[in-house]
Parts: sequence; structure tokens; C-alpha cells
Amino acid sequence: MTNTLNPLKITNQTMTLFTAYRSALEEFDYQEDPLQVEILGKLQILADSLTKTAKVSLVKKALRALYQTKKRPKKGLYIWGEVGRGKTFLMDLFYEELSITRKKRQHFHRFMHDVHARLKILGNTSDPLITILMTLRKILI
Ligand SMILES: Nc1ncnc2c1ncn2[C@@H]1O[C@H](COP(=O)(O)OP(=O)(O)OP(=O)(O)O)[C@@H](O)[C@H]1O
Ligand SMILES: [Mg+2]
Repeated sequence: MTNTLNPLKITNQTMTLFTAYRSALEEFDYQEDPLQVEILGKLQILADSLTKTAKVSLVKKALRALYQTKKRPKKGLYIWGEVGRGKTFLMDLFYEELSITRKKRQHFHRFMHDVHARLKILGNTSDPLITILMTLRKILI
């Protein structure tokens, strides 16, 4: 991995995660990785969006959804990369630094297993995924 990270190119928005990343690099004696930094920027935008949304009251959220006054906030990010590329490492940083108390981390396979188990229980009901979504929303958030 090359050391091509230029802090001047990092915007203010990426500072929180970037700082945590730099500390982790030092702690574990890792090398800076430009691709990881690029993903960090996207993760920071997501973190900012989630943090902002968490502060908005339910009434405001409902009104916004109804009148669609604002652009929909970012709610997720799909990261793809080769085995051992450092995805989990970034995820660890993101989760640790996310300043939301009501947060939960779950492995994709476990999540899907849970959804399938719930689908089986619900059987032939209409829109089972909506029902599951509402239930998970209550449990997870
Ligand atoms: N910038 C880095 N420099 C050196 N080592 C790193 C760096 N980033 C991550 N690593 C280390 O590389 C190893 C693999 O990272 P990680 O487990 O995050 O990869 P992954 O993409 O999640 O892999 P998998 O696809 O198997 O889930 C870990 O030991 C991790 O701590
Ligand atoms: Mg992983």
C-alpha cells in the first residue's frame, strides 16, 4: 500500500473519521491506503446524514416525508472489495465513531437469516417484508 494520503485534500466533513483512522494506523502500525480514505469520505457523509436525521423529531420527519420538502437523507452505503481489503476495519471505525446512541451493528448473513425466519413465520400474509421492516424498526432502533 502506498502512502499517498494528502491531508489537504480531506474536507472538513471527513475530519472525524479521518482522525480516528490516523489513530488506528498509528496504533496498529498500518499504512495509509488511498482507497480506504476515499471510502472514509463517503462514510463520513453518511455519518453526518444519520446524525442529522437522528436529531430531527418524528413529527418533522413525517411532515418531510409527506411534503417531500427536502432531499431524502442518505441512509446506507454498500462497500464492496476483495477479501482482506479492509472493509471490516473501516466498518469498525464507522460504528465506533458514529455519535448516535441508538445504533446496532449486525452481520449481513445474520440479518438475512433473521428476515427469512420471520418470513417463514408470517407465511402467506400480504407485504410480509413491510411487516418485518416495521418490527425490526421497533426492535433495532
Ligand atoms: N490500511 C491498512 N494497513 C494495514 N493493514 C490493514 C489496513 N486496513 C486493514 N488492515 C488489516 O488487514 C486485515 C484485513 O482487513 P479486514 O478484515 O478489515 O478486511 P475485509 O475486507 O473485511 O476482509 P473480508 O472480505 O475477509 O471480510 C485486518 O487484519 C486489518 O486489520
Ligand atoms: Mg470483513
